Amino acid sequence: MSEQDRAGMEHPGTDQEPAAGAPTARPDQSSTQLSPPSAGARSALPVERLVAAGQGFSQPQYTENFYETVGGHETFVKLVDAFYDGVADDDVLRPMYPEQDLGPAKERLLLFLEQYWGGPRTYGEQRGHPRLRMRHMPFRVGPQARDHWLQHMRAAVDTLQLAPLHEATLWDYLERAAHSMVNAAD
Ligand code: HEM
Repeated sequence: MSEQDRAGMEHPGTDQEPAAGAPTARPDQSSTQLSPPSAGARSALPVERLVAAGQGFSQPQYTENFYETVGGHETFVKLVDAFYDGVADDDVLRPMYPEQDLGPAKERLLLFLEQYWGGPRTYGEQRGHPRLRMRHMPFRVGPQARDHWLQHMRAAVDTLQLAPLHEATLWDYLERAAHSMVNAAD
C-alpha cells in the first residue's frame, strides 16, 4: 500500500480534521495516539496559563473533556439510539447494513464516538485503528446515503439539547466526517 493510499484511508478525525473549537471541547485529534488528547493539548491554551498564574478560573471547567462535558456515556447512548431509530426505517440506509440486527453496528458507532471525544478507548481495544474511510469502502456511500445519514444524525443531535457551542462542535465534526466518507456517486 502506498503512503498516499494510507493517508487517504485515515479517519477524518486524524490529520484532516479541523481543531474542534473550545478548550473543553477538544476531541482526540489522533487516532493513533493512545493517551487522552486533552492532556497535551490543554497545556498550551492561554487560559491554562491564566489559571496557572492564579487569575481566578475554577479548575474543573478546564480539566473535563468534551465527552464528560456533554454528559458522558448516557449522552452518546442517547445519540446513537436516536440515530439508529432513524436508520432502521430508512429505505436507503437500512439495506446497506449487512447484519440483520443493527445492535452491533450501533455499538461500534457508540464506542467510536466515545473514544473520539475523549471517553473510554474501548473502540481501539476491540477494533484497532479506526480507518473509517477504509472501513466504509465495502459500502457504496454516495451523496444520497450521506444526506440520509446526516438527516438522522441531525435529528439525533437535536434530542440531546446541548448548549449551542457544544452542539455546534459536535455537528460540525459529524457533518465534515460524513462528507469525507463519500466514496461513490449516486
Ligand atoms: C456518510 C454516510 C455513512 C454511511 C452511509 C455509513 C454506513 C455505514 C455502514 C453500512 C457501516 C457498516 C455497519 C457495521 O457493521 O458497523 C458503517 C460502519 C461504521 N460507521 Fe458509518 N456510515 C456513514 C458515515 C459515518 C460517519 C460520518 C462516521 C463517524 C463519524 C461513521 C462511523 C462508523 C463506524 C465507527 C462504523 C463501524 C466501523 C468498524 O467496523 O469498526 N460512519 N457505516
